[in-house]
Amino acid sequence: MKINGTHYRSVWPIGEDAFGIIDQTKLPHEFATLTLRNAEAAAHAILTMQTRGAPLIGAVGAYGLALAVREDASDEHIQKVVEMLAETRPTAINLKWALWRMRGALLNQPCEARAALAWQEAATIADEDVAMSEAIGRNGLKIIRDIAARKPGKTVNILTHCNAGWLATVDYGTALAPIYLAHDDGISLHVWVDETRPRNQGASLTAFELGSHGVDHTILADNAGGHYMQAGEVDMVIVGTDRVTAHGDVANKIGTYLKALAARDNNVPFYVALPSSTIDWTLDSGRDIPIEERSEDEVLKMAGRLPDGSVAIVEIAAPGSGAANPGFDVTPARLVTGFITERGTCAATPEGLRSLFPHKAGQ
Ligand code: MRU
Repeated sequence: MKINGTHYRSVWPIGEDAFGIIDQTKLPHEFATLTLRNAEAAAHAILTMQTRGAPLIGAVGAYGLALAVREDASDEHIQKVVEMLAETRPTAINLKWALWRMRGALLNQPCEARAALAWQEAATIADEDVAMSEAIGRNGLKIIRDIAARKPGKTVNILTHCNAGWLATVDYGTALAPIYLAHDDGISLHVWVDETRPRNQGASLTAFELGSHGVDHTILADNAGGHYMQAGEVDMVIVGTDRVTAHGDVANKIGTYLKALAARDNNVPFYVALPSSTIDWTLDSGRDIPIEERSEDEVLKMAGRLPDGSVAIVEIAAPGSGAANPGFDVTPARLVTGFITERGTCAATPEGLRSLFPHKAGQ
């Protein structure tokens, strides 16, 4: 993705003893990058959401572990750091997927070879994520083309929730990748961007991305999507996901479930875009997905820019009130029209997933 003419990925190596990320807590008001030099800094960045999005935290976790291996390549240290990084955010399976893959690649190798191998494996995880996102984009583009063909001369309206763009992956994105390709293909598009309270990933990150790419978009209060669906102003919904079970249940940012219900009631197709690293083949039911509970401060306070240009955090609730803050909810497979993956599109069913990933199913 290009920012002011410079190509960025959302994570990148710096030599062999550090890596860079975009500080997403500063967007959209400031574009700042951070250099991370050890696994503890990577864990802090994931926990505080300086870096976020399911596929991206997998790649950041992998680089964090690779830095730890440079300090101490013993089995015990690798295990300790895998556990430390894995517990930073519980819902997105991509983090554990990447850490377990790293551990698997390292533990049966001689200690002296592990540092170089770990760095290489982290880079491979990042490169593969880019390739998967690009392929998701191509597969989702076919669906958008079909919708555009059914309404010649008219704009295709797509609703998305949270941020599943290049800021949530290493590049391109999942839900937003087909949108970027469709825009570049000349399809007339407009995106309804759910603001995505409480952290506003839609208003602050998705809108920033779409604006940077020149995609026409409008930010909506989270509660407005159903209204526009009833008015016939949403042709499809595309969201990303943090974990999909083998039966097709979908964990994604809190509020996704309500959009899926509204979409079903209004016959609006509801697609979920994901790389295969987001499928948890060990779980059948979405009820077994751990849901991250975050600080009540995210609900009770808001960050924004003041007229003098400075960024401040303000309280928005009655003093003394508490808040609940589940980070994610689960959309049952029956509400999902289809999965858009790097291998193609399938039904949100065990059979659908097995048809695309026969070698994974049953593991
Ligand atoms: O809490 P976040 O901002 O990390 O949540 C991100 C999402 O819910 C995304 O939709 C999901 O990770 C898919 S990203 C390609």
